[in-house]
Amino acid sequence: MYFVSLFVLFATINGLVLASFEQDGVVSQQPEQVHLSLGSNPSEMVATWTTFNSAGQPIVEYGIKKLDKTAKGQSTEFVDGGSEARSMFIHRVTMKNLVPGQTYIYHVGSEFGWSPIFWFTTIKNGSDWSPRLAIFGDLGNDNAKTLPRLQEDAQSGQFDAIIHVGDFAYNLDTDNARVGDQFMRQIEPIAAYVPYMTAVGNHEQAYNFSNYVNRFSMVDSKTGEINNHFYSYDVGPVHFITFSTEFYFFTNYGRSQLHTQFEWIKNDLIEATKPENRALRPWIVTIGHRAMYCNLHFPNYTECLNRQTNFRKGDSEFPGLEDLFYQYGVDLEIWAHEHLYERLWPIYDEQVYNGSLSEPYTNPGAPVHITTGSAGCYEGIEYNVMEQAEWSAKRIYDYGFSIVTIHNSTHLSFEQLSAEKGHKVVDKFTLIKDNHDSYETRKLTSS
Ligand SMILES: [Fe+2]
Repeated sequence: MYFVSLFVLFATINGLVLASFEQDGVVSQQPEQVHLSLGSNPSEMVATWTTFNSAGQPIVEYGIKKLDKTAKGQSTEFVDGGSEARSMFIHRVTMKNLVPGQTYIYHVGSEFGWSPIFWFTTIKNGSDWSPRLAIFGDLGNDNAKTLPRLQEDAQSGQFDAIIHVGDFAYNLDTDNARVGDQFMRQIEPIAAYVPYMTAVGNHEQAYNFSNYVNRFSMVDSKTGEINNHFYSYDVGPVHFITFSTEFYFFTNYGRSQLHTQFEWIKNDLIEATKPENRALRPWIVTIGHRAMYCNLHFPNYTECLNRQTNFRKGDSEFPGLEDLFYQYGVDLEIWAHEHLYERLWPIYDEQVYNGSLSEPYTNPGAPVHITTGSAGCYEGIEYNVMEQAEWSAKRIYDYGFSIVTIHNSTHLSFEQLSAEKGHKVVDKFTLIKDNHDSYETRKLTSS
């Protein structure tokens, strides 16, 4: 009580508008949980961080050799839906007019305190370069097997960006969102250095996904607006489309968003496949949490009926996505959710369309699907799965993460690293596409 009185007195004396509550017994205006995400073009980078009390105007000081530039942003108060209604302040600042492909140092904060100094490198301009990204899903606080390597690789400049394909912390909302705070602290050594791009998973569903929506800042490159559920962006010769598979499962939050998202995906694909756009960015890669073709046993996991999720074909209530992705020539579909790694043969409508028997991933007749959900969480590896289907080319039950390298307009290589085998590459394939048109217009060769 004495402490609170002193604090209120301090706030009054300084004429400041400060929240007068304490967070876990401490008044905290120090920035923490710093993380980056891509802005609407290679000249922008977004920094997001948290304080537990109001901390005034959020600022990023940054520069190439010294902190000689300043960007200001916005703060929003987020009240977690748990019983304690814990409050936190999320600060977002977009650095603009950055030089593409340039390394910057920066720190975040306000007149009330500053983070340590971090650094990042902006992605390069245009499409004539070879991005390298780490991709994984299902990373928790406990048993986060891949975390040390990801932290090390991020800080040594191994990745242009990182994609976390849903299921964070286990869970962001647990223990009145304290588990979420701890997770965001654990990924800071990754995400304060490399843009950390996200998709939503089922573990984020509490309170209408509010922890996920509030803690991240995913910018749709066309609108410049933040939409953490569905958004798209370009990295070199790739157009990434991220969407929510969870709209199809948590319909208790409504159904309209599902239709809104479908129309958005369709329009985004129409735009991305205009000849001039596809010539510039031939690769289209989708990111969603639950795999279209799946392995989880019914009835324990009702989302995987007949080895497929409900959004593959859709039904009378909502449209499915597989036809859309096939029609617009999506090259690669990346999923997570199942805690293993699985590579599929090129597939459409349950049929395998390998390029040829000897070179299945050269000019395939359908999109390639990868499930990469083994980054590590307390639930462990998924062993309770159905036997390998005929459309499954490879399954790995190790903890690990994936690296995708887009070499040029025709070659994309994908590697799976095992955390349990010293980060040895345990699977690798190269997708070769001389033609990125709709599969409908190609002569298909079934294996
Ligand atoms: Fe999941």
